[in-house]
Amino acid sequence: MAKLTFHGHSCFLLETDDGTRILFDPWLDENPVADVKADDVGAVDFILVSHGHSDHFADCVKVAKRTGATVVSTYELVSFTQEQGVEKGHGMNIGGAFAFPFGKVKLTPALHTGSIAGDKDGTHTTDCAGFLLTLNGGTRLYHAGDTALIMDMQLLAGQVDVALLPIGDNFTMGPEDAVRAVGFIQPKVVVPMHYDTFDLIKQDPEAFRASVGGQAKVEIMKPGQTLTV
Ligand code: NI
Ligand code: MN
Repeated sequence: MAKLTFHGHSCFLLETDDGTRILFDPWLDENPVADVKADDVGAVDFILVSHGHSDHFADCVKVAKRTGATVVSTYELVSFTQEQGVEKGHGMNIGGAFAFPFGKVKLTPALHTGSIAGDKDGTHTTDCAGFLLTLNGGTRLYHAGDTALIMDMQLLAGQVDVALLPIGDNFTMGPEDAVRAVGFIQPKVVVPMHYDTFDLIKQDPEAFRASVGGQAKVEIMKPGQTLTV
């Protein structure tokens, strides 16, 4: 079984059966709810970045340089990290999948605006993505990134065991649309994310759980908490 640890907002660390450590959307040092700083997150083998907004990308370059991790994201964002001195990157694009040593990663559509924090010329402006992972151990995990509710989520039906979905509203889909997303995706487990980090995205995760009802098990994770998936 893989271990999924929440570090606040949209940042998760996934440790696979074979010990591969995968960090999603690293925003730690300035993240008001993070339980660790970027320097304390330990060894990281891969960093998966959904898009370049600072609340998903801020500590990517720092962690990649410290750990030697491979950055996996859209081609443009990976190119930007390499200009910043990151050695290992794997650029992809939406709809494409690649078999990494720990399992398969597919970039999924996310409907959201795109820019890269720190890209002063805007030459790397990029679209946003989510990730569908099929781990060698069998677990299928979907990190939606920042997104609106989109019909494309229907294509994920039957392909996801654990779905990490934003519920914060304002910048992403809110709880009502996230409940509809659960209906589209039909995962076994849902973990709400991208809420309660700051006032603008305050939500009641218990109310979300009640609205999901019997469609899926809702795991409400506190920063620092680990879930076996
Ligand atoms: Ni964003
Ligand atoms: Mn965001």
